[in-house]
Amino acid sequence: MTTDYYANANEVRLFEQAYRQRLPVMLTGPTGCGKTRLVEHMGILLNRPVVTISCHDDLTSSDLVGRFMVTGGDVVWTDGPLTRAVKAGAICYLDEVVEARHDSLAILHSLTDHRRALYLDRAGEVVQAPDTFMLVCSYNPAYRSSLKELKPSLRQRFVTLPMKYLAPERETEVIVTEAGVEPATAARLVQCATAIRTADEAFHFEPPSTRVLVTAAQLIVAGASELEAAEACILAPLSTDGAINAGLREVAVASLAADA
Ligand SMILES: Nc1ncnc2c1ncn2[C@@H]1O[C@H](COP(=O)(O)OP(=O)(O)OP(=O)(O)O)[C@@H](O)[C@H]1O
Ligand SMILES: [Mg+2]
Repeated sequence: MTTDYYANANEVRLFEQAYRQRLPVMLTGPTGCGKTRLVEHMGILLNRPVVTISCHDDLTSSDLVGRFMVTGGDVVWTDGPLTRAVKAGAICYLDEVVEARHDSLAILHSLTDHRRALYLDRAGEVVQAPDTFMLVCSYNPAYRSSLKELKPSLRQRFVTLPMKYLAPERETEVIVTEAGVEPATAARLVQCATAIRTADEAFHFEPPSTRVLVTAAQLIVAGASELEAAEACILAPLSTDGAINAGLREVAVASLAADA
């Protein structure tokens, strides 16, 4: 497994510039386009540990900052992952931040403006973020079905870096590096995905990501045919009812090797 990150445009530089200015970053983009990989890469580049928190609608602010817990008859305050990340001067990565409820996220306001402080009301403590602390959030704006939106008061606190799929040659390089597949095979898988992505406007599903191309390439390396791998990794996950338009399937598989 590699942890290489292939930059798309200026996102690595802007991320680093935001870090230097102690500004929080919001990554947006479709699933499997490299958001998590970018954060891991920046952690290595900036020499900071990354603390990842996956957001969901049951997440409370106590889950983030901490709570009093009973241990051996004593009631003691226990820091949550956000508080631990602030104290450690880490990069705290809130994945799929739109999934969290607004009231749970209100705690982030003071942390994401000039105050750079976490107010632990229950513990009666104010934690000042060290210069090396950075908050990074991500979400996928395409999941509009969830009817969830971040409040402008939160959105406007972040430097937003919109991410998209890499250009075909670059995406091919990623697949070769990640899966160890032949460059010609990787190029065909990218062509297959590009055909679907181009048609996507009309189909309204989340297009195949770099992630599924890497998975397909891994199956091919293990001996699957290009067609089998594309069917299982690229086409089947596109729609839950399996009803992919025949025309689209034809366009997609036309780029693949017939028998390899
Ligand atoms: N720019 C890139 N450089 C290197 N690898 C990449 C890149 N983009 C995608 N990948 C590959 O795709 C996989 C998925 O990427 P990643 O986990 O970063 O996606 P994501 O945007 O975080 O998706 P999700 O929104 O579903 O969490 C990675 O494990 C890696 O193999
Ligand atoms: Mg991710």
